Amino acid sequence: MASADIYSRLLEKNRRVTDGFQYTIPSSGTYPYQWLWDSCFHAIILSHFSPADAKKEILSLLSKQFQNGMIPHMIYWKNFKKVSFRQIEWGKDGTSTITQPPMIAYAVWQIFQKGHDIDFLKSTYQQLYHFYRYLLSERDPHGKHLIGIMNPDESGEDNSPRFDLPLNLPPIQTREENMQKRLNLVAQNIECKFDAPFCMRNFFWVKDVPFNAIMVANLKMLAKIAQKLDRQEDSVYFAKQAEDISQAMRKFMPEDGIFYSTFGEDYKKIRIKTWAIFTPLFAEILSREEAKKLVSEHLLNKNEFWTKFPVPTTAIDEPSFDPKGFWRGPTWIAVNWFIYKGLINYGFTEIAKEIKESSKNLIAKSGFREYFNPETGEGLGAKNFTWGGLVTDMTPGG
Ligand code: GLC
Repeated sequence: MASADIYSRLLEKNRRVTDGFQYTIPSSGTYPYQWLWDSCFHAIILSHFSPADAKKEILSLLSKQFQNGMIPHMIYWKNFKKVSFRQIEWGKDGTSTITQPPMIAYAVWQIFQKGHDIDFLKSTYQQLYHFYRYLLSERDPHGKHLIGIMNPDESGEDNSPRFDLPLNLPPIQTREENMQKRLNLVAQNIECKFDAPFCMRNFFWVKDVPFNAIMVANLKMLAKIAQKLDRQEDSVYFAKQAEDISQAMRKFMPEDGIFYSTFGEDYKKIRIKTWAIFTPLFAEILSREEAKKLVSEHLLNKNEFWTKFPVPTTAIDEPSFDPKGFWRGPTWIAVNWFIYKGLINYGFTEIAKEIKESSKNLIAKSGFREYFNPETGEGLGAKNFTWGGLVTDMTPGG
């Protein structure tokens, strides 16, 4: 079997059609629903094999957009009964009530690169506009140009140690303790009817580095999409928003060359080194010198992120590091993809290649697992997990 086939087969196997909508589930045993950033990853992978299926993935994701523009991070489509996945009740039927890192404009632009289907851009633009406008207004109610999340799950990194401080948890904790705190937060969110400005101000006031970096990169793509559609004013507006968020990140987040997520209205820095510190490379908000320092002092540092199977989600010298702890240490292929793209942005081609090779080796050694022990390469979590397909997009041009 040609190697590209392995990835396209995995996605085909996980493909589902419900109510006329086609989408891909991340893993049949563990995650039998549609997730927001997963679907963007699927669309990016599919753009290489089958742009038509990539478009369908995006259209099903957009189909459940809320009136206020938010796109939910989960669409259940059907009620599956027997799953090992622990279901959180998000206070609504059919979808969750929170969002996830906004990778949609990036995915749509990448699909457009394969075939230049302007009608696809036209048919999705209004919804993208509405979604990013929602994030810019509802998630930044005071116009500070930093986008807030109201629950750790909105980051896509459910139990990351970046959220220990806001959740009032110690660095060493059990999954259950972490889950309990997040469930309490969901109960508060339900009580305040998921009114984002209110929920953020009162319960979880976090400006997360990856979410904002991903927002910057996506706003730049949205500006390109608007331009293609001859919407000059929108294009200038979104490019300016990307610039404003970059500036605000540079103002509130860095210390000694590292960008940290912030907590509370006085932007208290959450000084935990996770892979998040590399996402400013993805958003291209560092100077060349800053990027060089970050890569040599932290990414390539054997005491922090350069493990036998890089890149661990949490630096190994952090007290919270746990090589099997979900987002508290293991290597995830999507994380490697973000870092790969960031390295390419700054011309670190050789290191990017190493990350690509190491990602492929992990899959060859341990299969399409959800995440991997960064020291031994052991596969962990869900099986037949789709994110491994992102290695097909680890190419310099996308
Ligand atoms: C887990 C991950 C999240 C992902 C979801 C479905 O909850 O933490 O990022 O979207 O699974 O794969």
